[in-house]
Amino acid sequence: MKRKAGATPGLRAGPHPWWRVQSHCWAVSTFNQIEQGAVGNGGMEAHISIVEFDSPQHGKQVEALWRDVFAYDTPRNDPGVVIEKKCEVRDGLFFVAVTNGVVLGTIMAGYDGHRGWIYSMAVHPEHRHQGIGARLLSFAEEKLVALGCVKINLQILGGNEEAQRFYEANGYSVENRISMGKEIRENIS
Ligand SMILES: CC(C)(COP(=O)(O)OP(=O)(O)OC[C@H]1O[C@@H](n2cnc3c(N)ncnc32)[C@H](O)[C@@H]1OP(=O)(O)O)[C@@H](O)C(=O)NCCC(=O)NCCS
Repeated sequence: MKRKAGATPGLRAGPHPWWRVQSHCWAVSTFNQIEQGAVGNGGMEAHISIVEFDSPQHGKQVEALWRDVFAYDTPRNDPGVVIEKKCEVRDGLFFVAVTNGVVLGTIMAGYDGHRGWIYSMAVHPEHRHQGIGARLLSFAEEKLVALGCVKINLQILGGNEEAQRFYEANGYSVENRISMGKEIRENIS
């Protein structure tokens, strides 16, 4: 059975009371919402939080996860470059799923005043099919909705059927668009 869009298994509905100061991605301190929930883990309950990305705590782990999961080979997609550029923007839309300081998954979002975007959705291969991806997605969606976003877009590589199924189960549909891009070489060091 397909889940309803935005449904977050294992979490109670309503506002989440977990607020803490925790930010190194931002230059100024900010209150970041932390969402906590239990996720099934082979009969054990792992306590997993979704928090804003914090470079000193999470940077190396996220780089390793992305190298493993995405295997991008172009310089513009180098995890170190991606993280540095996202942190420079300081939009507070980069989140990780963590348990005991260990990063299990990531999601980046963006909002330009017209559309919201989802990027870099990744769950560690050993922790998939436990609802972590759905929780990360739902968390990022809530942030975009709170900013006034009326539509969320995302791109996946052709042939990535697991990701397509995942997004369809979470309320997204394939649209008849041609995706185009242009590399800005002078900004890639
Ligand atoms: C796509 C991706 C993020 C999904 O992460 P995930 O944590 O496995 O996602 P979920 O657990 O929320 O959902 C995955 C499936 O597990 C199922 N599931 C969720 N909780 C479950 C549980 N407790 N027991 C069994 N199955 C479960 C879901 O129903 C879903 O099935 P469906 O896709 O058929 O609907 C992950 O596969 C991934 O990192 N892929 C590689 C990177 C990638 O391609 N990213 C997307 C492009 S940027």
